[in-house]
Amino acid sequence: MRIVMIGDGYVGLVSGACFADLGSHVTVVEADHGRLTALKAGRIPIYEPDLDRLVVENIAASRLSFTHRFEEAVGGADAVFLAVGTPSRRGDGHADLGHVFAAAEGLAAALTGPTVVVTKSTVPVGTGRRIAALMAELRPDLEIEVVSNPEFLREGSAIRDFMRPDRVVIGVETPHARAVLGQIYGRLALGGTPLLFTGLESAELIKYAANGFLAMKVTYINEMADLCERLGADVLDVAQGIGLDRRIGGKFLAPGPGFGGSCFPKDTLALMRIAQDAGAPSRLIEAVIGANDARKSGMAGRIIAAAGGTVRGRRIGVLGLAFKPDTDDLRDAPAIGIIHRLSEDGAKIRAYDPVGMEAARGLLPGSVHYCRDAAEAAQEADALVIVTEWNEFRSLSADRLKAAMRGRIIIDLRNIFEPEAMRRAGLRYHPLGRPPGRAAEAKVRMSATAADADAQPAMADAA
Ligand code: UGA
Repeated sequence: MRIVMIGDGYVGLVSGACFADLGSHVTVVEADHGRLTALKAGRIPIYEPDLDRLVVENIAASRLSFTHRFEEAVGGADAVFLAVGTPSRRGDGHADLGHVFAAAEGLAAALTGPTVVVTKSTVPVGTGRRIAALMAELRPDLEIEVVSNPEFLREGSAIRDFMRPDRVVIGVETPHARAVLGQIYGRLALGGTPLLFTGLESAELIKYAANGFLAMKVTYINEMADLCERLGADVLDVAQGIGLDRRIGGKFLAPGPGFGGSCFPKDTLALMRIAQDAGAPSRLIEAVIGANDARKSGMAGRIIAAAGGTVRGRRIGVLGLAFKPDTDDLRDAPAIGIIHRLSEDGAKIRAYDPVGMEAARGLLPGSVHYCRDAAEAAQEADALVIVTEWNEFRSLSADRLKAAMRGRIIIDLRNIFEPEAMRRAGLRYHPLGRPPGRAAEAKVRMSATAADADAQPAMADAA
């Protein structure tokens, strides 16, 4: 199949490279010359495990190419995917569709024959129909079928999510477009992936409903973590206890400092607006947004309390800046608000993230000292805060931390350590929703980090 991908952002690049790897011929359209030159040379502007290999291999196999000219790309294409950004519109939380409509207009001008246009960007319900109307107005001479095909890729595990999805959702209205999409996803379907065909509006809503539900799950376990602290319960036991109920499921039940990233915050806000505008407001989603904002802004206060009521003049090591592991994305990352508030309160921040440091420099106060590794961040620190659960932090030794630090306080916002091991090493450990230092059984925990959805031994053992 011949596929055109408009947009070389996260979704466009991952989807384009994966479609190519599955055997299609993919042309990615990118307007920016600097990015285009870098991509043609196999240099990837984002950090995503395995993406560079996939891009380089498929360029070499002549299945993946890049251009800035619509006209060059679209001739003979079986389908054109719109994968441009839809950021939150300033002020009202609605998705900004400027890039989507600009891409649709550029495409309409360049088309030379009938085409299937597929929206992969996350767009409000009704957008597919608006694009169809716009294309029909601009090119009444051509038959243009519009399809909605939302993506469910997680940053950090996007390639795996694309190649082994739980399902592919395709909102489609004509038999021809249905056949084209069926063929494009044929290899995945053969491998057992369900292809769910729906109407346009349902497909568009499925994307928001899925992200809203997952955000709600995370928010729920975060509230349970707070409750556990008040009642002396252990949130990891509670998460496991409810997650083993197959109606609930064990994934997305890891408590943390509040969800961030480029999707949950933006999509919950957009879903709230969509529901309000439709006259069917979602009280649940509104509560999730409020609870998550409050949680994120409360995290610095929690750290200050654990540090004894003040951080003025204290050296605080911060491990993890990206909103989750295996990405350099800092959009809406909890670390940003935490570091700003601690710095305002007079703390001296020494931060480390395996790949997010470059992106962090423009977002964090100038006074932040960037360390070359976790050990340097811990050196002479009065307190150490774990904000992102990178795997390399999990293997840090409690004894070494104690030896390196000036103080004894570890505030772990991701529950990556066993409280008892920390206590034995003489550290004052502050986990989330767990009794600090109670003798904890050495059992494998359901540490459902966002990236390890398939690696949850506790669930697998119990199944
Ligand atoms: C999310 C969805 O999971 C994807 O299915 C979707 O395609 C994507 O948004 C999107 O709309 O493009 P992503 O934002 O990359 O993916 O990351 P997640 O792994 O979902 O994590 C989102 C946030 O929730 C992170 O801040 C993470 O730390 C937090 N989280 C997640 C928890 O605090 N606990 C959990 O158990 C899981």
